[in-house]
Amino acid sequence: MQFKYIFGAAAAAVAVKAQEANSTNLTSLLAGNSELSALNTLLSAYPDVAGALANATNITIFAPSNIALQSANESGALSTLSAVGGAVQALLQYHVLGSTIYASGISETPAFAPTLLTNETYTNVTGGQVVEARVVDGGVSIISGLKNNVSVTTPNLNFTGGVVHIIDGLLTIPPGVGEALTAANLTALLGAVEATNLTSALSTTPDITIFAPNNAAFQAIGSAVANLTVEQAAAILEYHVINGTVAYSSTLTNGSVPALGGGNLTITVTDGEVFVNQARVINADILLANGVLHVIDSVLKINDTTAGNSTQTVPANPYSASAGTEVPYTSGVASATTTIAALVTSNSAVASGYVAPTDAVGVNSAGKPSASASASSSAGAAAVTAGVGAAALFGGAAFIAGW
Ligand SMILES: *[C@@H]1O[C@H](CO)[C@@H](O)[C@H](O)[C@H]1NC(C)=O
Ligand SMILES: *[C@@H]1O[C@H](CO)[C@@H](O)[C@H](O)[C@H]1NC(C)=O
Ligand SMILES: *[C@@H]1O[C@H](CO)[C@@H](O)[C@H](O)[C@H]1NC(C)=O
Ligand SMILES: *[C@@H]1O[C@H](CO)[C@@H](O)[C@H](O)[C@H]1NC(C)=O
Ligand SMILES: *[C@@H]1O[C@H](CO)[C@@H](O)[C@H](O)[C@H]1NC(C)=O
Ligand SMILES: *[C@@H]1O[C@H](CO)[C@@H](O)[C@H](O)[C@H]1NC(C)=O
Ligand SMILES: *[C@@H]1O[C@H](CO)[C@@H](O)[C@H](O)[C@H]1NC(C)=O
Ligand SMILES: *[C@@H]1O[C@H](CO)[C@@H](O)[C@H](O)[C@H]1NC(C)=O
Ligand SMILES: *[C@@H]1O[C@H](CO)[C@@H](O)[C@H](O)[C@H]1NC(C)=O
Ligand SMILES: *[C@@H]1O[C@H](CO)[C@@H](O)[C@H](O)[C@H]1NC(C)=O
Ligand SMILES: *[C@@H]1O[C@H](CO)[C@@H](O)[C@H](O)[C@H]1NC(C)=O
Ligand SMILES: *[C@@H]1O[C@H](CO)[C@@H](O)[C@H](O)[C@H]1NC(C)=O
Repeated sequence: MQFKYIFGAAAAAVAVKAQEANSTNLTSLLAGNSELSALNTLLSAYPDVAGALANATNITIFAPSNIALQSANESGALSTLSAVGGAVQALLQYHVLGSTIYASGISETPAFAPTLLTNETYTNVTGGQVVEARVVDGGVSIISGLKNNVSVTTPNLNFTGGVVHIIDGLLTIPPGVGEALTAANLTALLGAVEATNLTSALSTTPDITIFAPNNAAFQAIGSAVANLTVEQAAAILEYHVINGTVAYSSTLTNGSVPALGGGNLTITVTDGEVFVNQARVINADILLANGVLHVIDSVLKINDTTAGNSTQTVPANPYSASAGTEVPYTSGVASATTTIAALVTSNSAVASGYVAPTDAVGVNSAGKPSASASASSSAGAAAVTAGVGAAALFGGAAFIAGW
């Protein structure tokens, strides 16, 4: 299918009008907004999705602007995706929340809102793959796979079924574990997982949380790694995984949580930072097809559950090991040319000053967006959207997420 015609329609677009409360239906809203003509045309090519959205209630649509879709169109991404049955539909579903969230309901504490993307080909997060919504530098950011961060440029366009926020780029469907590890340059962990035959367990188990030591963390315990049997290494890696709970930074709470394969992990959320045992989360909330991954600065030791704290200045070394000269497990693993930077680098895995509630891990309400009824505007500054390739929309080379 070709999408070249999308922009022919833009010339005929009507000027943007302020929406009356909720008397405008989605069809009229899209037709009447000059920034959304490309989306309107794209939707018309997918009547199943368009019809479902037109009939839905209590939804939030993150609507890519004409410029955002034009970028994806010119790069050939959309026509590439359209050749894969169901891929464009999945991408569109990932742009829609099953709840109505106004901009005023989004704060500096990240919220993780389920989308309508539930197709198991693309996600094994129960209840729908999520997007992260948070205020960054005063504007509303929507963060998706591989930490793709787009801005809400026009918030709070009401319609009968909910609300539309215009965004300046397309969202990225979170990829599988292997692609995420590669993109985040977590090549030691990637090699270790492959060496211990945990690939299948990590990529097919739904609803997991992975605490992922970075390369420096593995190198720091080089002397200990050298003597591990495959079974011991596998047990250590399993100790870095929570099975059955997708624990986003703002849904973690202080306390103990069982790890895959036995043993407990001590979670400490303090001064906006998150620690698992004594390891510090240095890049939180990298979304996965089947859960979430947090990068940590040291390798955990089974049942060394000493809690971390924000006064720690150097990474913990529970193995009392000495550093190796090379990063272990990386021979044969393709080295990454990019790495995913933490969105906010200093003291704010969650949000500065954030204090976790005391309910059980994974069930607190702070990480869930509030459906605020007021609709004050806090639009982010428009950012230049780089060219969007098909791979970027799906987090990697494979359109259907896998290892
Ligand atoms: C959108 O709807 C919300 C909730 O009903 C309302 O508070 C807000 O004023 C509406 N916004 C506009 C621009 O009409
Ligand atoms: C949407 O609203 C327009 C204008 O009021 C109306 O003509 C149209 O039939 C409505 N569409 C649906 C699906 O309700
Ligand atoms: C939307 O609702 C109308 C009227 O109830 C129905 O005829 C139509 O099939 C629905 N469309 C979808 C895609 O659910
Ligand atoms: C929409 O959401 C409101 C508030 O969360 C809820 O009270 C209402 O029942 C929902 N309506 C539908 C049709 O789901
Ligand atoms: C799920 O995605 C696959 C691959 O894109 C597609 O073939 C299938 O129709 C989708 N299933 C549903 C229920 O949409
Ligand atoms: C989700 O799980 C199913 C069943 O195990 C599997 O076939 C599918 O590939 C998984 N999806 C993803 C995106 O990993
Ligand atoms: C539309 O707005 C009215 C008045 O604010 C409200 O009572 C009603 O629940 C809203 N309906 C929907 C579907 O949002
Ligand atoms: C690797 O794990 C799979 C299941 O995850 C299992 O079927 C297979 O036997 C394992 N292979 C080895 C060599 O342990
Ligand atoms: C995760 O937990 C489920 C449910 O308890 C269990 O069936 C599954 O085997 C576990 N996965 C792994 C990799 O141990
Ligand atoms: C590793 O094994 C070698 C050879 O058995 C031994 O000399 C060394 O002390 C071991 N290192 C550690 C940290 O256990
Ligand atoms: C893990 O914690 C639970 C509940 O606090 C406790 O019952 C269990 O004994 C602990 N397991 C280990 C291996 O320490
Ligand atoms: C990836 O990690 C390796 C080993 O730690 C490092 O040498 C390299 O610079 C990193 N690549 C990027 C793009 O950060």
